[in-house]
Amino acid sequence: MTVFVDLSISLDGYIGGPDAGPANPLGDGGTRLHEWVFNLETWRSSQGLPGGDTGPDNDVVNEIKGRAGANVMGRRMFDEGEANWPAEAPFHAPVFVLTHSPRDPWPRLGGTTFHFVTGTVEDAIEQAKAAAGGKDVQVNGGADMVRQALRSGLVDEIQLHVAPITLGKGTRLFDGLEDLRLVPDRVIASADVTHLRYRVRSTP
Ligand SMILES: NC(=O)c1ccc[n+]([C@@H]2O[C@H](COP(=O)([O-])OP(=O)(O)OC[C@H]3O[C@@H](n4cnc5c(N)ncnc54)[C@H](OP(=O)(O)O)[C@@H]3O)[C@@H](O)[C@H]2O)c1
Repeated sequence: MTVFVDLSISLDGYIGGPDAGPANPLGDGGTRLHEWVFNLETWRSSQGLPGGDTGPDNDVVNEIKGRAGANVMGRRMFDEGEANWPAEAPFHAPVFVLTHSPRDPWPRLGGTTFHFVTGTVEDAIEQAKAAAGGKDVQVNGGADMVRQALRSGLVDEIQLHVAPITLGKGTRLFDGLEDLRLVPDRVIASADVTHLRYRVRSTP
């Protein structure tokens, strides 16, 4: 079982723009991080749309789809999603939300149930592992959650989809992680995005 992180990131290290929140998911300009996805065949078919691009970017997204048997996320990412995901939330698996605010589980259509974990990051990841049915666990975000997961030493793999843009301000991913060491594992480049995959060697 692999615990993995998979995020879109700007060239200058942001995973979201400024002023992010439920009314402004991904923050100002943040949807530009995901522009490489919107014309892909796999994304279009998930929206009920015909056609779309096939090729390496589409293959990378298909690799991730259905890989996770359970997910972990921070409360701010959840808050954005709660306001914006459709009734059939896009995870189709249990999601463990790390928060200081206890809340009853929230089942959604299509097999997603959000469980609210008020313990440590280790508790959230261990609960996800136990619920994943032998599949992998995805640490979905946001930045605070991913940094804590990396510090816990429980993350095995990171994939970053590097969008060829800068945001200049917003939510930075790696701030404060002073000695993260990664082993390059794979690079896939297209005209729209560069997919960098790493194994985690040691964590700060
Ligand atoms: N580019 C991408 O691919 C991508 C992917 C995912 C998310 N994002 C973006 O990332 C942004 C959110 O990231 P973020 O760093 O601001 O927040 P986050 O990691 O999503 O959530 C942080 C919150 O989680 C709770 N939390 C964290 N550690 C905890 C602990 N040890 N115990 C209890 N609760 C804990 C706290 O909420 P409380 O104390 O209030 O409960 C904290 O404020 C969003 O704008 C989202 O759109 C981008």
